Amino acid sequence: MCGIVGILGKGPVAENIVEALRRLEYRGYDSAGVATLENGAIGRRRAVGKLKNLADVLQREPLKGSSGIGHTRWATHGGVTETNAHPHIVGDVVIVHNGIIENFRQLKDELIAGGATFTTQTDTEVVAQLIARERKAGKPPREAVRDVLKRLHGAFALAILFKGENDLLIGARNGPPLAVGHGNGEMFLGSDAIALSPFTNRITYLEDGDWVVLTHNSIEIRDAEDRHVVRPMSFSQASSMLVDKGNHRHFMAKEIAEQPEVVGHTLAEYINFNDRTVRVPANLPFDFKALDRMIITACGTASYAGLAAKYWFEKVARLPTEVDIASEFRYREAPLPKNGLAVVVSQSGETADTLAALRYCKAQGQHTVAIVNVPESTIARESELVLRTYAGPEIGVASTKAFTCQLTALACLALLAGKVRGTLSADKEHEYVSALVEAPRHMAEILKDEKHIAAVAREIAHAKDVLYLGRGINYPIALEGALKLKEISYIHAEGYAAGELKHGPIALVDENVPVIVIAPRNELYEKTVSNMEEVAARGGKIVMLTDATGLEENASRLFQRIRVPHANAFISPLLFAIPVQLIAYHAAVFMGTDVDQPRNLAKSVTVE
Ligand code: F6R
Repeated sequence: MCGIVGILGKGPVAENIVEALRRLEYRGYDSAGVATLENGAIGRRRAVGKLKNLADVLQREPLKGSSGIGHTRWATHGGVTETNAHPHIVGDVVIVHNGIIENFRQLKDELIAGGATFTTQTDTEVVAQLIARERKAGKPPREAVRDVLKRLHGAFALAILFKGENDLLIGARNGPPLAVGHGNGEMFLGSDAIALSPFTNRITYLEDGDWVVLTHNSIEIRDAEDRHVVRPMSFSQASSMLVDKGNHRHFMAKEIAEQPEVVGHTLAEYINFNDRTVRVPANLPFDFKALDRMIITACGTASYAGLAAKYWFEKVARLPTEVDIASEFRYREAPLPKNGLAVVVSQSGETADTLAALRYCKAQGQHTVAIVNVPESTIARESELVLRTYAGPEIGVASTKAFTCQLTALACLALLAGKVRGTLSADKEHEYVSALVEAPRHMAEILKDEKHIAAVAREIAHAKDVLYLGRGINYPIALEGALKLKEISYIHAEGYAAGELKHGPIALVDENVPVIVIAPRNELYEKTVSNMEEVAARGGKIVMLTDATGLEENASRLFQRIRVPHANAFISPLLFAIPVQLIAYHAAVFMGTDVDQPRNLAKSVTVE
């Protein structure tokens, strides 16, 4: 993870580097640092914790150099300390790094055997030491970098400066993204175009294996074989405006509240509101009729959107659909049918495992569709067809509005598949699209019940363990509810398919364990209620989320009930997602955690 920035500027650059890092803090917030070159020396400031701490240090002790690099860290190798914070300096080399150098131990042993002493526990220092060693042996900076890059295994993006070389910034990419920003008499490097958006919208993305030598007025890109290559320049649409929280206390609260609107925007892209039909993209590069099966792969919350979509694709399009988390899928050498279809789902479009899974599928000759929220991301650029979600920037680390927009896009794709495959009648298409059209209104209705949900969440926050149960297409919502609660409130939670409870997890149930049951009034309702009874009989505290009425007979069994408006079962995951998000949010607020930037997490997981 981590975010990196480099600037060759006309005046002092430290402030601009912090400005860029602010846009990269979603990549990690364990520590941050900046180094600039001034009067033939290297000036460096670092601080543990949020970027604000670094900004405070810089205010007290400013840096004046006009060439600089910066970093915001999500720790992989080495604890969260100022010593391990980037930039790292060895000899005349200053470096920032995103990623993991997988052979760092072996390289470190070699360097130590040669007399090197290390001051940090990071894998990054190995790269700095290697380059410094080449420099000592008399190699000019670019040759030193070129030769060291050949020795590195793993995934990395690097930005490197050299003391005394104010007109030189070298970058390298192998895995995590790295973008060059073109200025007028200035040059920029950054982990993404958004970081560089305050300075330029003219962007060149490096490809894997590329490294780049920048001066204030020139750019030279070389590939892994050291051949001079030209990569296209594009005009980024990334806005330079930093998104604010509006009237909300946290970004997550704002993003939960935005869902009716952004789901509406996403729907507008994929359905025709007038005749209630699904919109067929003009450029569909494959034929749904020709498919025997498909694979959906993603990580975390996005994988739960994929799992819900499996139920839609199988029911509506009669298309056997396999869903796997990308970190497993990428290594299991899955046999894939000729000309099959792989769908990847990602908010950031940069998740390392999802990207690797996409590349595996491409190498196996699959057609590829990406459901992504960031249109300039690597996954979007490398996929055959991009179906954007229109969630807008999601800042809170816990995914909320991106999830419901992913569900929306996937539901529409499933309807399209059904239509093309002839398994979805015109009447059914009309019914399901009409249900989707109603979803934003129902979501808004659920949001009105926030006070009540918050009160329930405060009760739940006293628990040490929480179980979530769901069946069918709402089983993924149980998984998502548990993930949300864990990641922002730090309360242990697990999601289960309701029917699976008695095969083990029911042993966990006692009067201290809230069991949150997602029970829409659909063909599985009675079965879910039976599972609920099993929990109640063992003293479990049942919190029932349902659109069913007439529950009075169960009332005494219920610890709490959260009502969701009754709607077509087709859209139930879109609706039930909201109360589980609100439960997690309010439990976290009650616990006093850092809701938008929970401990140990980062928004974009660019390492595997
Ligand atoms: C959980 C969460 C993560 C992400 C996962 C994939 O709230 O946000 O589980 O869903 O890291 O990220 P993307 O969607 O960017 O590929």
